[in-house]
Amino acid sequence: MVKAAILGFGTVGSGVYNVLNTNSELIRERTEKGIEIKYVLDLREFPGHPVDDILTHDFNDIVNDPEVKVVAEVMGGIKPAYEFTKQCLQAKKSVCTSNKELVAKHGPELLRIARENGVNYFFEASCGGGIPIIRSLNEALIADEIDEISGILNGTTNYILTRMSKEGSLFDDVLKDAQDMGYAERNPEADVEGFDAQRKIAILSSIAFGKTVDNEKIHTEGITKITPADLEFAKAFGCTIKLLAYGKKVDGRYYALVSPFMVASDNPLFSVDGVFNAIFVHGNMLGDAMFYGSGAGSLPTASAVAADMAQAVKNEGKTVYNNWQEGSIELSPSDSFECRFFVRLDKGAAGTAKSVFGEEIQFKEIPIAGDECAFITEVMSEKEFEKRAEKLSGIKSRIRCK
Ligand code: HSE
Repeated sequence: MVKAAILGFGTVGSGVYNVLNTNSELIRERTEKGIEIKYVLDLREFPGHPVDDILTHDFNDIVNDPEVKVVAEVMGGIKPAYEFTKQCLQAKKSVCTSNKELVAKHGPELLRIARENGVNYFFEASCGGGIPIIRSLNEALIADEIDEISGILNGTTNYILTRMSKEGSLFDDVLKDAQDMGYAERNPEADVEGFDAQRKIAILSSIAFGKTVDNEKIHTEGITKITPADLEFAKAFGCTIKLLAYGKKVDGRYYALVSPFMVASDNPLFSVDGVFNAIFVHGNMLGDAMFYGSGAGSLPTASAVAADMAQAVKNEGKTVYNNWQEGSIELSPSDSFECRFFVRLDKGAAGTAKSVFGEEIQFKEIPIAGDECAFITEVMSEKEFEKRAEKLSGIKSRIRCK
């Protein structure tokens, strides 16, 4: 049996412990060696729990133990996960992680250190929870040029928007419920402001396009301003609203964006509800593919970490190819990204809207927004949209359309 360690016994760490124990026999058969957890690192005590027998509070026990070949880093955050990961890789231990913040910030460096030491840095669980998207990009789609990767990458916001749409509820009320039920974090900023999806699309775009897409350069809008009226108008146009993350290559220019989008009912993303994630990929040979499944939660995420650990065992002594190479991709300004725009405005401004956006725009009205109407523009860049919108007072909201 190959000896392993788990750094962190929180939601994902305890899930990894469960997956490796529950499926230990089949993992042994499939890896031809098996994985035995020798240490779990956590600051807390777990009296009465079997993990207590293998618990350590000292990272040095793990990094200095030559028997440990594979480490699951499921602590989250940058400190001390970054230092611990580097030290494990330098000690020739493969590291498998769900830590999207660390991968987005230091992925290329950690991949390089892994290569230099003949081990692996795997992070399937960092994007889309249990959905096998990263291995698909690196292996199954290795012969394709990917020009788009986009989708629903955050379960919390998708859950909130789904309930707002179905119940007509307010954002704050649904968020509170989601927190009470344990879906949303007590500090939900990273989810609802779009930063979690931003890190995930940075990672996926870096693999799809081959060089680093810096997450901090990605234009990011969250869902906090979406109202029940927006969602009702969306229905009137045969759409719903989803927080989408986009990585796209158009005529040699790269775009990345996180923002709420109107999604039409004939789009497969329309029916992705609740905490589920879905990732759409377009390849120059493949055409379209979509990956759908459990994007968050203890066991789905742990399933991906444990699968990475199994891959690390199967590939001992060899660094597996990753399409994410050194160097960075320059993103085009998000205001040159072209799409149609949904606009909600005062009814009194409808006449001016026609003169600004064209006589052909069609207005819709709904009972819950008596003084307001809405329309959808032609395809245009955001820069062009803003230029025209300046001539129009009474705009209540604008949402991009997929
Ligand atoms: N907070 C994340 C989500 C967890 O809601 O999708 C999984 O990365």
